[in-house]
Amino acid sequence: MKSEHSVPIVLLFVMSLFHEVTGRTSTTLRCDSLLLGQYTCREPEIDVETQSAKGCRENRTVLVPCMPAEEINCIGLDGQAMTYNGTIVGFMKEMPCRWTNGYSFETSLLLSIFLGMFGIDRFYLGYPAIGLLKFSTLGFFFLGQLVDIILIATQVVTPSDGSDYVIDYYGAGLTKIIMDQFTFVKPPES
Ligand SMILES: *[C@@H]1O[C@H](CO)[C@@H](O)[C@H](O)[C@H]1NC(C)=O
Repeated sequence: MKSEHSVPIVLLFVMSLFHEVTGRTSTTLRCDSLLLGQYTCREPEIDVETQSAKGCRENRTVLVPCMPAEEINCIGLDGQAMTYNGTIVGFMKEMPCRWTNGYSFETSLLLSIFLGMFGIDRFYLGYPAIGLLKFSTLGFFFLGQLVDIILIATQVVTPSDGSDYVIDYYGAGLTKIIMDQFTFVKPPES
């Protein structure tokens, strides 16, 4: 009776001793599934030329290195579990960013104002069909040019490849705020 119980207890003791000595637990928690507040991430690096994050990808995400907080034990980039100290990179996280592909907002607007009657703005942004139409009709007799100036100035018309405009640091950047069926609206108190 006595020996039957003592075996698991000895095993438990050895295991806890092992834990104390190595500082390792057999965690299966991956660092990228840590909760908010258990890690800090670096800000994305901004490219001065485009004023958007370096390495921003077409789906408007950029990877930033994240450091699990002190005493956090998780499986990191190399597939090994370790206890972090707040300075070692444990995983990469996707952050939203502006994806630019070299189309300048200022150039587009200037082309639209001064050469819009020839459709040069539309050619520049990658809409050759409308560009040709504007070219052959003198910008729909200047009416289409005026409409395009407004559409480009308000950033409704954007480059045809789906990228964002390159806008200067002091430029007229526009952040669209939309409301859809997923927006939570607090009902008014009656
Ligand atoms: C964005 O693209 C990258 C590679 O091109 C991919 O690894 C990543 O999962 C994508 N992210 C989203 C949210 O679609």
